[in-house]
Amino acid sequence: MKKILVTGGAGFIGSNFVNYILTNRDDLFLVNLDKLTYAGNLENLKEVENHKNYSFIKGDITNNELVDYLFKKYSFNYVINFAAESHVDRSILGSEVFFRSNVVGTNVLLEASRRYGIEKFVQISTDEVYGSLGPTGLFTETTPVSPNSPYSSSKAASDLMALSFFHTFGLPVVITRCSNNYGPFQFPEKLIPLMIINSLNGKKLPVYGDGLNVRDWVYVIDHNRAVEIVLEQGKAGEVYNIGASREMKNINIVKLILSKLTKPEGLIEYVKDRPGHDRRYAIDSSKIQNELGWKPEFDFENAINETIEWYLKNKNWWQGIITGEYQKYYKTLYGDR
Ligand code: NAD
Ligand code: TYD
Repeated sequence: MKKILVTGGAGFIGSNFVNYILTNRDDLFLVNLDKLTYAGNLENLKEVENHKNYSFIKGDITNNELVDYLFKKYSFNYVINFAAESHVDRSILGSEVFFRSNVVGTNVLLEASRRYGIEKFVQISTDEVYGSLGPTGLFTETTPVSPNSPYSSSKAASDLMALSFFHTFGLPVVITRCSNNYGPFQFPEKLIPLMIINSLNGKKLPVYGDGLNVRDWVYVIDHNRAVEIVLEQGKAGEVYNIGASREMKNINIVKLILSKLTKPEGLIEYVKDRPGHDRRYAIDSSKIQNELGWKPEFDFENAINETIEWYLKNKNWWQGIITGEYQKYYKTLYGDR
C-alpha cells in the first residue's frame, strides 16, 4: 500500500481528490494534513471520514516539527501539495498569509521530502503563474512565468522553488499548472459558486470591470484525474499544463447561471475592476495529453448543469459557510450591495 501525504485535502480541489481516490482506488493510503482555514471544511469529507485507507490531521504545513513527525511516522511514498491560500481578491486585501502558507509551507514540505526521501512530490500550481494573455495564443509549459497578483506570485515562487529542489537535490518533483476549476464544494468566494448563491438569494451579481475577462474552465474531477496520472507517470522535473480548452468570458458564465436558475439579468451589477486583473487565461494541455494520455472527460454544458444542481441540493453546505467571517469578507470587498 503506497502512502500519500495530501495537504489541503479539506479544501475544494483537495477534498474532491480525496473523495475521488478513496472511491476509485484501494491501493493508496491518504493522510490529509489541513489547517482548516476559512476554506477548509470537514463536511466535504463526510463520506470518507471513516474509510480504512484515510487519516485526517489538523495542522499547518509551515509547522516543521509536525511535518517531520508525520514523515517519520508514515514513511510517505508521495506528497501532493494542494494546501494554499487560493483567492486572488483576498491576496489583494492582505498578502502576508499567502507567502507564509504557499511559499514557506511548500519549503517545509520540500525539505522534509528531501530528508526522508520520497518517490514523487506533486506541486499543485496554477496557470496564473504565466500572467495574462492578449486576445490570442495559449499558455504552454515554456511560456515564461510572469505572475501579476500576490496570489499568483506566491504560487510561482513555490512552483519554481519545487523545481529548484529537483535541479539541485534530485528530488523527484513534478509541477501541474491547471486552469480555473469548477464543481462541488467550491468555496463561495469564487466566481461560479458566488454567482449561483447570490442568484438564489436574489442578491446583486458583482461583475468586475467590463465582464469580458476570459477564464478557461475545467471540471474538478478532470483536474484530479490528471493529478492521479501525473503522480504515477509524470516525469521528475517536468511541468504539465492541465485544461479543457473551454474559454468563457465572465459575463457569459454569469448570464448562463442566471438563465439556468431562471433569474433576471437585472441582478447583474458591473462593479469596479479588480486591481491588476488578468485579462485572459487559456491553456495548451497537449503535453499531458500526448505524453501521459490524459484528456478531459467532462463536457462543460453537462458539468456546469450538474454543478448548479449540486448547489441547489446542498443549500445546507453553503448556508453554513456564508455567515460570520464570510459576511465580513463580503462587506469589505463588495460593500453593502
Ligand atoms: P481552497 O482555498 O478551496 O482550499 C485550500 C485548502 O488548503 C483549505 O482546506 C485550507 O484549509 C488548506 N490550507 C491553507 N493553508 C494551509 C496551511 N498553511 N497548512 C495546511 N493547510 C492549509 O483551494 P482550492 O481551490 O481547492 O485550490 C487547491 C490548490 O489548487 C491550491 O494550491 C491552488 O493554488 C491550486 N489551484 C486552484 C485552482 C482553482 O481553480 N481553484 C486552479 C489551479 C490551481
Ligand atoms: P475567480 O473565481 O476569483 O478566479 P481567478 O481570479 O483565480 O481566475 O475569478 C474568476 C473571474 O471572475 C476573474 O476574471 C474575476 C471575475 N470575478 C468577478 O467578475 N466578480 C466576482 O465577484 C469574482 C469573485 C470574480
